[in-house]
Amino acid sequence: MTDDARPAIVVLISGTGTNLKALIDSAASGELPARIAAVFSDRGDAPGLRRAREAGIEAHHVEPQSFADRDAYESALADAIEAAADGPPAAVVLAGFMRILRGEVLRRFAGRLLNIHPSLLPKYRGLDTHARALAAGEEGHGATVHFVTEELDAGPRIIQFRVAVRPDDTAQTLAARVLRGEHRILPQAVGWLATGRLRLEGGEVMLDGRRLDAPVVVEDR
Ligand code: GRF
Repeated sequence: MTDDARPAIVVLISGTGTNLKALIDSAASGELPARIAAVFSDRGDAPGLRRAREAGIEAHHVEPQSFADRDAYESALADAIEAAADGPPAAVVLAGFMRILRGEVLRRFAGRLLNIHPSLLPKYRGLDTHARALAAGEEGHGATVHFVTEELDAGPRIIQFRVAVRPDDTAQTLAARVLRGEHRILPQAVGWLATGRLRLEGGEVMLDGRRLDAPVVVEDR
């Protein structure tokens, strides 16, 4: 139990955890009106686990391979998420979590599950988004926060960060600019969800009581 009255959120990661760090910093500064109750990784070597522990947040490695099948893994993960948050958290945030969730986690936390994806969805679902955008000669690129549904990277979109592609961009330089924007839009969307301003109702995204016909757009500056 905690005496911190802010809504609890839980973050799932697989890697470096710079988006996790953005959430940690934003919660620490008070900009994000939520507390990170726990971090879970499917990889024991994810640097983000150490980042979380250094910030005093409980961080666990739940290894998918140690369960009989995906259902067993997702049930255990869902139980662990609820145990860490003393009940269902206000948001479960996939911040560079590289597994597809289709079972109990999705069912139990539907409407509370957010993912950040490094492209302007619906363009470039899946991997290698920066290289693919460059190869296609895109003039603009970016990142999207969306609700997680059964279909990979296809859930209702909430907010996007957009950058102009520069003539000398490589996948690395473009990725770096997009990532900085991810660190802005993820805490924003998580804060909206945690405070009840953002909802998923009948497959529609509602923000402050109004249906979002298109994602909120944040431009690079
Ligand atoms: C980000 O680009 C995110 O959009 C994608 O995975 C990457 C995670 O980076 N889903 P980090 O671990 O937050 O640094």
